[in-house]
Amino acid sequence: MNTQTPSLSEAAAPLPRIAVLATGGTIAGAAADATNTAGYQAGVVSVEQLLSVVPALSTVARIAPEQVASIDSKDMSTALWTTLAQRINTLLAADDIDGVVITHGTDTLEETAYLLHLTVKSDKPVVLTAAMRPASALSADGPLNLLNAVTVAAHAAARGQGVLVAFNNKIHSARDVVKTSTYAVDAFHSPEIGALGWVQDGRVDFQRSVVRPHTRATEFVIGANWPHVEIVSSYAGVSRIAVDALVTAGVRGLVVAGTGNGSIHASLAHALADAASQGVAVVRASRVGSGHVMRNGAAADDALGFVSAGSLNPYKARVLLMLALAAGGAGPVALQKAFDTY
Ligand code: SIN
Repeated sequence: MNTQTPSLSEAAAPLPRIAVLATGGTIAGAAADATNTAGYQAGVVSVEQLLSVVPALSTVARIAPEQVASIDSKDMSTALWTTLAQRINTLLAADDIDGVVITHGTDTLEETAYLLHLTVKSDKPVVLTAAMRPASALSADGPLNLLNAVTVAAHAAARGQGVLVAFNNKIHSARDVVKTSTYAVDAFHSPEIGALGWVQDGRVDFQRSVVRPHTRATEFVIGANWPHVEIVSSYAGVSRIAVDALVTAGVRGLVVAGTGNGSIHASLAHALADAASQGVAVVRASRVGSGHVMRNGAAADDALGFVSAGSLNPYKARVLLMLALAAGGAGPVALQKAFDTY
């Protein structure tokens, strides 16, 4: 038997150190009984409890847990976004942290993920995960999603890919991913573009990479200044009342969830044109769920002073519009550049 102490070159490298930041959600949800997957309270299980049911984590990474919040993500706020992004940036600036995993509710995960994609200032992996079934449920999906998220965050190939979402064995880019089901465990997809790769049984396989700039390559810096931006929708019989009220309330930007290729009911279009003429930023997105909104396609953007959201859905378009306005972006030309870039 060889009892020699291994030389430095032979000694196993320490496992990556991954911070797991918990914010609540169904992954931390509990119901009165195990067959209840709809009537439960989100965000009541602590990060320590979440980690304790996944012993395999200790074979993948050294975990540094933090409870950042305990909310149902429908109640996500810009103040908590600021806290979360600042904490992530602080952690990733430290030499002894190799990546971050965030447990989050599914309902606004795509918004938080895109916000972090544009404001985290590090190449180290940042991976969000969640669950569709509460921690108390039969066949809860949270534990495996958490293990897979940590596996991705600990993997060298996840560096420099921007913020990622690991869910149901798929790895998605924060820019593209959206929630597409109210109940299915396969609840997240990247419409048209598809996932970046997959994670299964400890194996991480990226099949494409992210092209648009993100994280350190953006001009966006997280702060406490959140310009007031709201979303309005176009539908049969819509009036201009909501837009006029929002303009009176001093809104800085409006995203319209238009029909089809971002087309807008005439009543709403007149109100939005008036808003734009008063300096309110107006961004045309689509309520369809996939595809692009073409500039000057279903509306005369150049003449009306509107901006096209491209392939961002209305909720992600709102995130980018807030950041662009906070960074000093003013006028449709500068804002369109931001939408064409990110
Ligand atoms: C939430 O978003 O916090 C509740 C719903 C979920 O996580 O699936």
